[in-house]
Amino acid sequence: MKYASVTDRLAGLAGAKWALHARARAMKAAGEDIIEFTIGEPDVPTPTAFIEIAQRSMASGRTGYSNGRGEPGLVAALAARYSARRGRPIGPDQIMCLPGTQTVLYAILRTLAETGDEVLIGDPMYATYEGLIAQTGATAVPVTLHPEKGFRMQVADVEARITPRSRVLFLNTPHNPTGAVLRPEDIRALGELARKHDLWILSDEVYEDMIFPGVSFASPLDFPELAERTVIACSISKSHAAPGFRSGWCVGPAEFCARLLPLSETMLFGSQPFIADLTEFAVSEPSPVAAGMAERFSRRADIIAQALDGVGGLRVHRPEAGMFILIDVRATGLSGETFAGTLLDQQKVAVMPGESFGAGLSGWLRLSLTQPDDRIIEATKRIAAHAAAILGNAA
Ligand SMILES: Cc1ncc(COP(=O)(O)O)c(C=O)c1O
Repeated sequence: MKYASVTDRLAGLAGAKWALHARARAMKAAGEDIIEFTIGEPDVPTPTAFIEIAQRSMASGRTGYSNGRGEPGLVAALAARYSARRGRPIGPDQIMCLPGTQTVLYAILRTLAETGDEVLIGDPMYATYEGLIAQTGATAVPVTLHPEKGFRMQVADVEARITPRSRVLFLNTPHNPTGAVLRPEDIRALGELARKHDLWILSDEVYEDMIFPGVSFASPLDFPELAERTVIACSISKSHAAPGFRSGWCVGPAEFCARLLPLSETMLFGSQPFIADLTEFAVSEPSPVAAGMAERFSRRADIIAQALDGVGGLRVHRPEAGMFILIDVRATGLSGETFAGTLLDQQKVAVMPGESFGAGLSGWLRLSLTQPDDRIIEATKRIAAHAAAILGNAA
């Protein structure tokens, strides 16, 4: 039988990147004690208050159809939140609610790019971005993010990759997997470039509320001169420890939202009102769990850096936000994949190979910061022993 070409473009993109995670889970299921650092689920349960709101809402009959934009109460709450946070009025016609950042990004890219277009994207990047761009038919144009520049996207690197086909500059701040947070001056400079070349700016801000001490969040939405070309995507998945509820949104120009609306209606015919109700509550006040996660993840990043930076040739890249930390294992002479694969087999520690996040992270590892401190301390000992054994064998 014949299939649409999108299935060819996406074939192998999702599963292959997570092969090590799947292998670690299979070993766990077979009874092995694996310390798992592969994925980034919040380390606390969804706050009970949110679950109770959803239950009460369901019981009160909020189980009918919604609409393609989102429940009016939630849309108004998001408009108020973004107006307050970004310091300028943002109206309900600039908001669209969809199930989770992943769906939001899918819909945004579907609205902005198609075959023949190019999407400029930092490399390394979050593992689903390649597929998100490929589904539109557009080409992903990687812009290398350099560790010595804190993995923050540099204007000169973007400019060098711009062509007449460039359509979207895809940002992610705070960034997964590097934990980099763009500064206002980065965004201002990237924004000037976007204006010069008439690019859309798409910013995935799902880790906005998980900034480590000493760093401040900035968004392209802060810059009125970028308003007509900026769309941001976000959700309650990370900030409110609620990934299973699948509740996200985008903020962008009213015309963009009007264009997106029929796509949303075609895809979904609206989201669940009881999930909108809990989200409305969640976004109307500071998250009860985000600050605690940021504090714990920052502390755990310190533990890992102190235990491993400079040990056995390893270098630790300290994140500024989010749920992950990177370790550079290039001095061992192994690829991230080989290091991670042998670490799993020999030391029962599961980490993601950097290669799963793009060529820019070859020879690196990504660890989530969501395990308890004692498991992290134990894992650092095993990682150090593994690196030492590799270097000993090579000597
Ligand atoms: C950078 C980034 N964007 C989007 C997502 C997906 O978020 P959501 O659960 O809101 O779809 C993740 C999840 O890990 C992520 O790290």
